[in-house]
Amino acid sequence: MTAYPESIRIVDVSPRDGLQNIKQNVSTADKVGLINRLQQAGVNNIEVASFVSPKWVPQMADAADVLAQLDLNNGINYAVLTPNLKGVGRALDCGVNEIAVFSAASESFTQKNTNCSIDESLKRIEELMRPAIEQNVRVRGYVSCVLGCPYDGDIAAEKVADVSQALIDLGCYEVSLGDTIGIGTPLKAKAMLDTVLSKISADKIGLHFHDTRGQALANLLACLEYGIASIDASVAGLGGCPYAKGASGNVSTEDVVYMLQGMGIETGINLEKLAAAGHYITQQLGITNNSRVGSVIQ
Ligand code: HMG
Ligand code: MG
Repeated sequence: MTAYPESIRIVDVSPRDGLQNIKQNVSTADKVGLINRLQQAGVNNIEVASFVSPKWVPQMADAADVLAQLDLNNGINYAVLTPNLKGVGRALDCGVNEIAVFSAASESFTQKNTNCSIDESLKRIEELMRPAIEQNVRVRGYVSCVLGCPYDGDIAAEKVADVSQALIDLGCYEVSLGDTIGIGTPLKAKAMLDTVLSKISADKIGLHFHDTRGQALANLLACLEYGIASIDASVAGLGGCPYAKGASGNVSTEDVVYMLQGMGIETGINLEKLAAAGHYITQQLGITNNSRVGSVIQ
């Protein structure tokens, strides 16, 4: 076991993962209001939108309008998700400084989510990364279904390691491992990581756990023993992939920050202001705040 890291980089994905699955229309103003409140709370890494097909995810159709209202030179690391050359073109036109690309360790999920095989998705990523790298835009990678798939069931850890390695080889500075449907448990998560970390060093790995079955914090704690220092989370526990049957919200950022504070691990985030961001977006949308910690900070 490695010592826990002294500080952890939190990537709040609520404006993208959190909102993409919400059926009611979320206004551009509400999205920007959420992003502003996150940065006021000290969140320096925010995934703000996706440039995917609006036919596939209508909620993200206003991504360029969201970007237009942000100061892209204010030191905050704003990332956007891009699936193909068209998406990266739209993102680069907005002047983004980071993109995120995504593949998966499951063939069926990749088909449902991006209409192609894993190999094809890696070819697409290779193609879309070229213009990004030419323009010095940082690229982060995602691998979905690392602890199980809603269609294919169990996923081999070797496949997770292979797809992660492929993304690193293509130029991703970090790969975030997605438990897309929140199906993992701590020992399973550790076994998966043992395999991944036999190929890739811990400083290139992030954790992106959905909390469908209430296991996300336990899984994170287990994985932090490996010295991983990058965690994705979503304020108010919003989130879910429309193409992953049964997926629900990401682990809540408030719950993660509370746990890390209790462990003496620095995040640079003000918990009260973070909770206020969660209350803001859930009240604007009239939906339940799924953060346990957020719910006790009014
Ligand atoms: P397709 O239908 O096979 O592609 O979709 P296509 O090239 O035939 O395009 C269909 C239409 O979309 C065309 O328009 C394209 O121009 C347009 P038409 O000619 O019919 O008018 N189009 C686009 N428009 C704007 N921006 C684009 C774009 N691309 C095509 N970038 C495609 C293939 C990959 C585009 C589609 O499957 C797609 O957009 N998938 C994204 C689905 C998605 O966003 N899923 C959620 C994000 S992943 C996730 O949540 C998991 C994660 O959180 C990690 C985890 O939890 O594990 C990251
Ligand atoms: Mg996700």
